[in-house]
Amino acid sequence: MLDVGSGLGGPARFLAATQGCDVTGVDLTPDFCAVANELSRLTKLSNHTRFQVGDALELPFPDAHFDVVWTMQMQMNIQDKRRLYAGFARVLKPGGRFVCQDICAGNGEPLELPVPWATRPEQSHLVDPETLRGLVRSAGLREVSWRDVTGEIVAARKAQQAKAAGAGSQPTFAPLGMHLVLGDQAAVKMANSARNTDAGRTLFIQGVFDKPA
Ligand SMILES: C[S@@+](CC[C@H](N)C(=O)[O-])C[C@H]1O[C@@H](n2cnc3c(N)ncnc32)[C@H](O)[C@@H]1O
Repeated sequence: MLDVGSGLGGPARFLAATQGCDVTGVDLTPDFCAVANELSRLTKLSNHTRFQVGDALELPFPDAHFDVVWTMQMQMNIQDKRRLYAGFARVLKPGGRFVCQDICAGNGEPLELPVPWATRPEQSHLVDPETLRGLVRSAGLREVSWRDVTGEIVAARKAQQAKAAGAGSQPTFAPLGMHLVLGDQAAVKMANSARNTDAGRTLFIQGVFDKPA
């Protein structure tokens, strides 16, 4: 399977370890690919995962190459979503599956910035869920399932915060976590992200689509 915008490779390694998937990750950021490959080596998952630099809009793979294309929170920076999903449909085998979890625009109010994917408004390309769903379908992919999972994501975040508060820990970061990637503004980016969702400005969706055989 192909993970587009694979980041540090966590989802790819999880799928390899729990589902036995063989995962190729592609990401625009060379350092992320290097770290992802190193983490796979350290966790003995290098035989099942590999990460290479590439642009989601110019996928460096032949037509009809993958059984599954997967994306997790990666299309927020991409303006030309029509081209993005056309590329996914191209590299999928007939009968293959596209699976995504993504962030969408909610009530149309402007986002509080910075967020993890954007510091300035012109860097963020969120669309509402119906638009995103329509874009995937118009690439020729057939919808199997489409769910708004915002409530589940918010509940998971609140449970994590309550656990940290119960353990008496300060609202600081564990040694390993997103702050290592997000840099100096990690705390404000993550707080803004949570506030945007709580205020209805962002929604989370999960979708499953098939490429007709
Ligand atoms: C929020 S991270 C998600 C990483 C990973 N999917 C995860 O859930 O852990 C978004 C990733 O998309 C990558 N990305 C953004 N634009 C891209 C593009 N045009 N082509 C490939 N990767 C891209 C970024 O480098 C980043 O690693």
